[in-house]
Amino acid sequence: MRARKVAAVAGALGATLVLAGCGADGDSGGSTRGADGRGPITFVTGKDNSGVLPFIADEWNRAHPDEKVTIKQQSDQADQQLADLEQHFQAKDPGYDVVTVDVVWTAEFAARGWIVPLTGRHTLDTRRLLPATVKSATYNGTLYAAPYGSDGGLLYYRTDMVDSAPTTWKELLGNCEGRTAEGTITGDRPACYAGQFAKYEGLTVNAAEAINATGGKIVGSDGRTATVDSPESAAGLDFLVKGFKDGYIPKEALGFQETQTVNAFRSGQLMFMRNWPYAVAILDGKDSKVAGKYGVAPLPGPAGHGASTLGGHNLGISAYSEHQATALDFLRFIESDTVQRNNLTVGTLAPVLTSMYSDPKLVKKFTYLPDLLKSIETAVPRPITPFYPGVTEAIETNTYAALQGRTTTAQALKDMQAAIKSATAGG
Ligand code: GLC
Repeated sequence: MRARKVAAVAGALGATLVLAGCGADGDSGGSTRGADGRGPITFVTGKDNSGVLPFIADEWNRAHPDEKVTIKQQSDQADQQLADLEQHFQAKDPGYDVVTVDVVWTAEFAARGWIVPLTGRHTLDTRRLLPATVKSATYNGTLYAAPYGSDGGLLYYRTDMVDSAPTTWKELLGNCEGRTAEGTITGDRPACYAGQFAKYEGLTVNAAEAINATGGKIVGSDGRTATVDSPESAAGLDFLVKGFKDGYIPKEALGFQETQTVNAFRSGQLMFMRNWPYAVAILDGKDSKVAGKYGVAPLPGPAGHGASTLGGHNLGISAYSEHQATALDFLRFIESDTVQRNNLTVGTLAPVLTSMYSDPKLVKKFTYLPDLLKSIETAVPRPITPFYPGVTEAIETNTYAALQGRTTTAQALKDMQAAIKSATAGG
């Protein structure tokens, strides 16, 4: 079903791209729809697993009684969030004023004219923000969204079972030998390792991390030409493929998105986990069996630390919003110290303000902040193209087949390369 939808989107995109330049820009005539408009706004965003939204709504609404924000929470699954946004943009829904844009959706939303460029009267000051986050919100040299939360992958490990964090895959696996259940988490011992291996966006994240760690490159330096079929990529992908085959990754992880992974680690079923920083707040939460028994470290790789895939979310203003001036103020508000600090202290979300990573008080409380900053600064972006839905589909489908053992690593990469090529060619 997804494949059919992607094809339709890609087909329509060719025509839209040409028009995009004058679609959302208030100065290019005709389409100023709400650029100066003020009034109540709706902020559409993924499910608040971190408990930070009530603060944001209360703070904003107290200061803006005539321009209140209503928050619409979507699912916590990246693919479902995207489908919801695509549907509402296609319907030109003026009810979605401000939307959360995953870093990988920026190009598509911008190219289609669904979110307004933050230029001219919509200018946003980005000087205090982490450069990687600004880049993730930029398409073709123009800023289209306000960095809201960054994301870098981290390794979570059990300090009651391991002396220090492994820096290589070999060390990680060495720690598991004879101490973990193989192949399944239903045994009485924890399983060794899990990340996000269900067939959705998170699989692309995890596959890309494995591939990049061994020197593979999904696309070339232009950000879109397929280069994934290489021996380097095969070495990386094999870490995951062998994981399922040899049992150091439990088979249940084929159904894991972020939430299932964190729940498994939280209930003591995993020795090592790859996840985003938001997991810290959940692992320290009241139902956690591992509070005080886990550490956070950079991701391991084949020979020393690997690199994370760059994650994160930015806020865009819908081109169909009637209240874009209010929406812009809301974007400025979410960059504030108040909001960014609350996101970190309550939800352990990665701030976009550079200064927070060296704030002594925060670093004392969140000792992993320097590692997180490094993870974000060295993170590898996913391909930047308006045809990203087709590209990620190519990565997910073929990786998943290899992880399930339905195809070999070599064949999966060959098929992935062909599918990325046809996706970036426009359909
Ligand atoms: C996180 C990341 C996002 C990524 C998603 C995949 O939310 O911030 O960039 O696409 O995970 O599930």
